[in-house]
Amino acid sequence: MDKIVVTGNGPLNGQIPISGAKNTCLKLMTAALLSDEPLTLTNVPRLSDIKTLGALLESLGCEVALLNGGNVMALSAGTITSRKAEYDMVRKLRASFNVLGPILTREGEATVSLPGGCAIGARKVDLHLMALEKLGATLTLEEGYVHAKAPEGGLIGAVIEFPFVTVGGTENAITAATLANGTTVIKNAAREPDTVDLCKCLSAMGAKIDGAGTSTITIEGVDRLHGATHEVIADRIELGTFMIAPAIAGGEVELLGGRRDLVEAFCGKLEATGVQIEETDKSLIVRHDGSRLKPVDVETEPFPGFPTDLQAQMMAALCFADGVSVLHETIFENRFMHAPELIRMGAQVDVQGGHATVTGVEAMKGAQVMATDLRASVSLILAGLKAEGETVVGRVYHLDRGYERIEEKLGAVGAKIERMPE
Ligand code: EPZ
Repeated sequence: MDKIVVTGNGPLNGQIPISGAKNTCLKLMTAALLSDEPLTLTNVPRLSDIKTLGALLESLGCEVALLNGGNVMALSAGTITSRKAEYDMVRKLRASFNVLGPILTREGEATVSLPGGCAIGARKVDLHLMALEKLGATLTLEEGYVHAKAPEGGLIGAVIEFPFVTVGGTENAITAATLANGTTVIKNAAREPDTVDLCKCLSAMGAKIDGAGTSTITIEGVDRLHGATHEVIADRIELGTFMIAPAIAGGEVELLGGRRDLVEAFCGKLEATGVQIEETDKSLIVRHDGSRLKPVDVETEPFPGFPTDLQAQMMAALCFADGVSVLHETIFENRFMHAPELIRMGAQVDVQGGHATVTGVEAMKGAQVMATDLRASVSLILAGLKAEGETVVGRVYHLDRGYERIEEKLGAVGAKIERMPE
């Protein structure tokens, strides 16, 4: 496995293009299972998670072709040849669980492995299952698999109310409801841009969906969906990650394809640290003079709140702030794994349950570090941009799941960053 070596190298200047959103693209790919006509996705990020889900879809009978150097994906599920998503595939990628709604609603039954826990928390799927049961599915759990069966004649529209926001659960419910009989109303639905983009794609395929981007989504079931071409929305988490790079290292970086409405709450917090953000019609420009950031308190929340997927990166920035910041993680119970690694680089972080108190330091030192999830890994690279000497980030596998050509993108704005064999 490769490692990434970052050496603190002063301010960053230049442009970084933002790729299509990983988490959106994964759910868009599952939508292809809803129709026997082709779905073409453009602006597809070149990431290992995308390939992993592509392989799962192929195992279900969906043809998957990457075109244009991997930036365009042609999916065609003329016939579903298997209704079972195997453990070996699902365990690698939790988003795989989102094939359940589409196969169940189209085929009348589906068997999908339970994904199991992961580094950031237990990540249950009970709410996905609750939603499908509301739509009339009978569920049995056997040997680690969920077997779901629709009533004769298909799923039946219903009111589904989530007790708290679940992105994946909302998306499984939406896809299942598109081909159900009658109307489904989802209350306390996810408002994430990923979910909105999925609804946009499903609407282009002929689904009848109202209220995407609000807490109440209404879906009127249709008999069939047809093919479509859809452009994957910009990755707001990649955007936020690269916005933090000049906040830490100083300089001026233009994030091409960036939009403030995708990361509004995050922008507010970053500005409160003293960083300048300018929106243009094609980008966001981030400027910082390299002086010490002001401390700021952050609480993660479902969209439109501050995203949990930017908490680790924000912590990396606040490690260098002039004062004490408190980060409160409310979405996942174990999402501070970056803290001990940042401490190895000289940060002062005290984690107590869901709270992390960060006392900013003037300087940090490069070290050998590694992390067990994607966003934690990237936070170490960000800290390495200002730390003295070399920061060597191991387990690059995690980064490749979610960041396309990270060393090229950061290298292009002046970071000293290299991928090397371990
Ligand atoms: C999505 O995960 C993202 N993944 C995550 O991105 C992101 O952190 C998360 O949403 C929150 O924004 C994808 O879209 C592929 P949830 P998801 O269901 O859908 C609990 C990244 O780094 N819950 O909104 O799995 C759950 O345990 C990743 O790119 C239940 O209890 O998140 C969590 O505490 C990591 N029962 C909370 O809800 C359920 O049935 C929110 O989870 C479902 C969820």
